[in-house]
Amino acid sequence: MGEALNGLRRTMMCGELREEHVSQKVTVMGWVQRKRNLGGLVFIDLRDRTGILQVMFGEEINKEAFEKADLAKSEYCIAVTGEMVRRESPNNNIPTGMVELKGESIKILSESETPPIYIKENLDAAENIRLKYRYLDLRRPDMQNIFMIRNKANKIVRDYLDENGFLEMETPMLTKSTPEGARDYLVPSRNYPGMFYALPQSPQIFKQLLMVSGFDKYYQIVKCFRDEDLRANRQPEFTQIDLEMSFVEVDDVIALNEGLIKKVFKEIKGIDVQLPIKRMPFKEAMEKYGSDKPDLRFGMEIKNITDAVKGSEFAVFKNAIANGGSVRALTVEGASDMGRKKIDKLGEFVKTYKAKGLAWIACKEEEIKSPIAKFFSEEEMQNLLNAAGAKVGDLVLIVADVDNIVLQSLGALRLEIAKQLEILKDNNEFNFVWITEFPLLEYDEEEKRHVALHHPFTCPMDEDLELLEVDPLSVRAKAYDIVLNGEELGGGSIRIHDTKLQQKMFELLGFSKESAWERFGFLLEAFKYGPPPHGGLAYGFDRMVMFLAGTDNIKDVIAFPKNQNAYCPMSEAPNLVDDKQLQELCIKTDVKKEEN
Ligand code: AMO
Ligand code: AMP
Repeated sequence: MGEALNGLRRTMMCGELREEHVSQKVTVMGWVQRKRNLGGLVFIDLRDRTGILQVMFGEEINKEAFEKADLAKSEYCIAVTGEMVRRESPNNNIPTGMVELKGESIKILSESETPPIYIKENLDAAENIRLKYRYLDLRRPDMQNIFMIRNKANKIVRDYLDENGFLEMETPMLTKSTPEGARDYLVPSRNYPGMFYALPQSPQIFKQLLMVSGFDKYYQIVKCFRDEDLRANRQPEFTQIDLEMSFVEVDDVIALNEGLIKKVFKEIKGIDVQLPIKRMPFKEAMEKYGSDKPDLRFGMEIKNITDAVKGSEFAVFKNAIANGGSVRALTVEGASDMGRKKIDKLGEFVKTYKAKGLAWIACKEEEIKSPIAKFFSEEEMQNLLNAAGAKVGDLVLIVADVDNIVLQSLGALRLEIAKQLEILKDNNEFNFVWITEFPLLEYDEEEKRHVALHHPFTCPMDEDLELLEVDPLSVRAKAYDIVLNGEELGGGSIRIHDTKLQQKMFELLGFSKESAWERFGFLLEAFKYGPPPHGGLAYGFDRMVMFLAGTDNIKDVIAFPKNQNAYCPMSEAPNLVDDKQLQELCIKTDVKKEEN
């Protein structure tokens, strides 16, 4: 049975009905959440995206409607017309709970098999089932709520940028592979056998070209594609709010974006983000938090105790310092009683970040307990504890190594401990910080060359230009990331618009003139024709929505996401294609159909 509407029109949404609608005649349409037959009465909880409304059919009111309503089962799609009445026994748990619809006629628009997942909030079903039946998963009220939030954020962003004079412009999806950054998704070309388009990792180069064209302020809410290892906050295709501005400096880009952040978080979460958002140079973030996306909702800063332990007899510390490294500590307040097993586990944890070990000192009431105490005089131990900021009751955790390893392992350990001790439980803070003054370059041990930390068009800081020749690794960039509660929400930079400086940059990256032109020739060509100074930023829009919706899984905020293996259990993409399609593309594969 699948009745046609035949001119029937919906007049109200289920979730909108209130006492003020009593005695009005309404038509609602939606899905059967639940049906109960209590003898002469049938009750249906009818659901649409606005909420649930109780509909009642009485044998005595309208026998035909009553009997038809009794045929309805879970997830049948129905239309009901009738009169709104006050409920005899109100339900305070739902917004429509004071009223109900007295059903006078019903259409069964379509039937439903028993759905493979429950359509309810806080569903605890396996992820692959949820993704396989994603269209049903998306019927669940909590999922629908997320996409209404996403829609609202989308609109606020568009309105804000529009009010600030930005033009929304599209850029190509079939574009040129520029192997910097993540792995590309490639699309074979039929017209040019053996050649490939790449799906954009971001519209970076095109938005810079739009600045050359004089569009001045550009934005786009746009899909980006990166073939990288997936995590809780990464998807192979994700959405950026991407923007670029001409004739601006770092402060201008930051100010514009602070306005955007304030508006979005105010209008959706009701939060007043205090402006200006604090800024922290990259170096400070690394030294204090061991991360370029520090979570500032709690302290537990990393302390450099190198000077305090310089004189000690402990070979591990001595050697690390002699090799140009450092010794640093995390002091965990009130954790001096942490058990040996737990501490050993933390030692294993830091080893995954290449630390060779984790020394510890428990400052107990009665004594200092530590496997390394024997290497320290009483005075040396006191110096160490002072430098670590430790007092009685605290646990000091120490790593000695080259700076990179020390900071990264302690930075990760800091977060791990916060998780284990539930330091952030019940924390509702939204702690924003701009990380600024990123290094322009880093050294890639594998490729044995400098690589751009951000991308090759990022402008060095004016103060550091002289260092480009003598000490390139210490040059800072006009780059900035916006970080929220330890997550990178977005990032950007002021770009190089000076051809000479760009050439210098390519030299530092080890590109010959030819290879630079091969990769980025069209941008370099464009820059011959009066490029304006420009800069911009891109947010991970999905990540922003994760915060707005209060979820820590990026799949929750994407209607049709991929699973952890970049596979879609619903559409079964990727899939093998017809030989004919491959032939047209001049592609031969070794993979046999059976093997898949
Ligand atoms: P970047 O590479 O930092 O900058 O990307 C911007 C933001 O996009 C989000 N993001 C992702 N979100 C989900 N899944 C992914 N796989 C993923 N990768 C990145 C992050 C990140 O901060 N063109 C530059 C921006 C610019 O310079 O203007 C760019 O793409 O939140
Ligand atoms: P050992 O003398 O090798 O048994 O080490 C004594 C303590 O120092 C143990 O708790 C080790 O985990 C710790 N340790 C070893 N290497 C390091 C290191 N690089 N940094 C900090 N602690 C270390």
